[in-house]
Amino acid sequence: MTDTLRAIHAASDALVERMGGRKPQIGIVLGSGLGMLADQIENPIVIPYSELPGFPVSTAIGHKGNFIVGTLGGKCVIAMQGRIHYYEGYPMHLVVLPIRVMIRIGIQYLFVSNAAGGTNLSFHVGDLMIIRDHINLIPNPLIGPNLDEFGPRFPDMTRPYDPGLILKAEEIAAWEGISLQKGVYVAVTGPCYETPAEYRYFRNIGADAVGMSTVPEVIVARHSSIPVFGMSVITDVAHATDDEDYVTDGEAIVEAANAAADRMTVIFKRLVEQL
Ligand code: HPA
Repeated sequence: MTDTLRAIHAASDALVERMGGRKPQIGIVLGSGLGMLADQIENPIVIPYSELPGFPVSTAIGHKGNFIVGTLGGKCVIAMQGRIHYYEGYPMHLVVLPIRVMIRIGIQYLFVSNAAGGTNLSFHVGDLMIIRDHINLIPNPLIGPNLDEFGPRFPDMTRPYDPGLILKAEEIAAWEGISLQKGVYVAVTGPCYETPAEYRYFRNIGADAVGMSTVPEVIVARHSSIPVFGMSVITDVAHATDDEDYVTDGEAIVEAANAAADRMTVIFKRLVEQL
């Protein structure tokens, strides 16, 4: 058994012991400023990452470090209140450890959320974007010996985000009067925000939004054939020219994410109800 696999088994065994017989069906990763969805989870059991063996601890602003197991939309869910980012300095196998732990304890769906910069010039701060595809520009979390109990060496990635879930989310949003963008998310290492030339480059390669997370998590979920639904809050936007006086600021980004949390929460909750 590899060290990575041993770590997954140890952490998931410890988590199962803490869950009091609950069997979460859906894993939810709550990104920057979106931790508020956690407040909607009923009868929560809170399990700090620090109490699980071998677990990395999230150091990012706006991120706590807990699993929350409880009921949302009538279903048993496990939410990650705070995720692990590659830019924090953790190796990729630790960035995705929480996802593999949720897969091992039996989740059947993975929902992911994040804050992202809009590279699409028609996007505005506060927009919600359904992620329909991604471009990965950070190391692939599947590099290294394949974990055969999780999936094949060369996994398919033709439908990284589940078309059926996307359709349902669009119907929910239309019903609730919430407007949505839909687009491609490009993952970068960070921690710098992008230069104007980089925003232009990402737009030119087909990205609508850029961020520092999510894609490693989606890759390991799809390795195990878990259907994924993903959504970004657009917290800042690219500018068409270089000569405007603007900055990209972490605090403003958390604020923009918080402002969109209500709308995102509605969509996630209704989607969970309909599974
Ligand atoms: N770039 C990268 N990551 C981000 C951004 C951005 O502009 N906004 C929020 N996360």
